[in-house]
Amino acid sequence: MPGPIIAIDGPSGSGKSSTSRGVAQRLGLRYVDTGAMYRAMTWWMLTHGVDVDDPAAIAARCDEPFIELGVDPAGPNVRVDGRDVSVEIREAGVADAVSRVAAVPEVRERLVRSQRDIVDDALASGSGVVMEGRDIGTVVLPQADLKVYLTAHVEARAARRALEESQRSGSGSLSAAQENLQSRDALDSTRAVSPLQQAADAVAIDGTHLTLDEVIDAVIRALPADVQ
Ligand code: DC
Repeated sequence: MPGPIIAIDGPSGSGKSSTSRGVAQRLGLRYVDTGAMYRAMTWWMLTHGVDVDDPAAIAARCDEPFIELGVDPAGPNVRVDGRDVSVEIREAGVADAVSRVAAVPEVRERLVRSQRDIVDDALASGSGVVMEGRDIGTVVLPQADLKVYLTAHVEARAARRALEESQRSGSGSLSAAQENLQSRDALDSTRAVSPLQQAADAVAIDGTHLTLDEVIDAVIRALPADVQ
């Protein structure tokens, strides 16, 4: 039987990406970073001068970018119209705008369709998937074999984001990271379409006081025996 399909949701900076990549590497599964797809869409809107405060303008153009996601957990990447934008999508301009772009229903419809196609492709070639995001267990893959809701205290999440930012750009402010996280969490949790929410049947893991390996172990332990 192909699979398993694992959905990992949670707020920004909760450790979803490292955990999802680690689980995919240990189990030999594909890794799908749906946040990178929303970021790639946002990068395209910004570079094409689309007003990210105008949902109708975003909706009108969201079919234009050609977004390709690399699903190897050892080296994930994302391309837009053939250009690798894996670095650009992590920059502050994209981080500040992405929640507004991700709230547009037409953007979500399009990207959710691509996300389901990626899973269908994986299953057709006998592979399983770890998909991370905000609405994976609730909307994109309600049939997932395992749904995880990963959280951590906001201070721990901000510290992680500030460290990533300083490794990338040479400087990272804890208070700026915390402000960005909290405003994104508020937008992502209160938007009308597919807000960040724990699925009723998700396993909740609080990673605040756990190492990355401990969180990965907890996810793998939570897999139902019939898909291990
Ligand atoms: O996981 P991330 O920080 O790279 O996600 C970037 C943004 O995309 C985040 O603000 C919420 C949004 N997002 C979403 O709305 N739905 C998803 N499945 C994944 C991300």
